[in-house]
Amino acid sequence: MSQYQNHFETIANGLAESGYAIVDNFLDEAEVHAILALNLFAEDTLRKAGIGKATKHVNEAIRGDSIRWIEKETAPPEVKLLLERLDALRLSLNQNLFLSLKDYEGHFASYPVGSFYKRHLDQFKSDSHRKISVIIYFNEQWKENEGGQLRMFLKESNVDIFPMAGRLVCFRSDLIEHEVLPTHRTRLSITGWFLDRLVGDF
Ligand code: OGA
Ligand code: MN
Repeated sequence: MSQYQNHFETIANGLAESGYAIVDNFLDEAEVHAILALNLFAEDTLRKAGIGKATKHVNEAIRGDSIRWIEKETAPPEVKLLLERLDALRLSLNQNLFLSLKDYEGHFASYPVGSFYKRHLDQFKSDSHRKISVIIYFNEQWKENEGGQLRMFLKESNVDIFPMAGRLVCFRSDLIEHEVLPTHRTRLSITGWFLDRLVGDF
């Protein structure tokens, strides 16, 4: 049994019971530092994120982050380690929840001061291959007055989550509407999705 089995179990239970899960210390402090030290969140390595599947136009009134997609083959070892853990999570979810998640796609994301991402659903109407959204945060000593909460809109009430370093949040991409509230400090994450098909297959 892997040492991450507890995290994986928490995630499977959360997804099954509530459609979402939150796990602190999915990455430990050293792992967060190792990824931050790679400088992959540097402004000049990212591009303004688009919205929509086909057109991908930039609209900062909806979404203000800058991103770069992770390339699995050329990723540095520190990132490959994370990708391997996410793949183990994928297999564990397939086993425990009888899913058939086949692949992962993800990007580095940086929200500059004042930016946000308005309420949305991650599954595109035209493309339903995104099944589970997975976000991991890289912000050390985040303070509540710095904003930047992920707000999930649930049936009963809303849940706000601060983007603390090492924390993983995941949720059903087809079900849970969410937004990123305006951030008062640069806000870093790796955001991705488990897909029911292989990346590159259409
Ligand atoms: C997204 C998103 C949430 C977050 O990139 O689609 O909703 O907390 N991100 O970064
Ligand atoms: Mn989203």
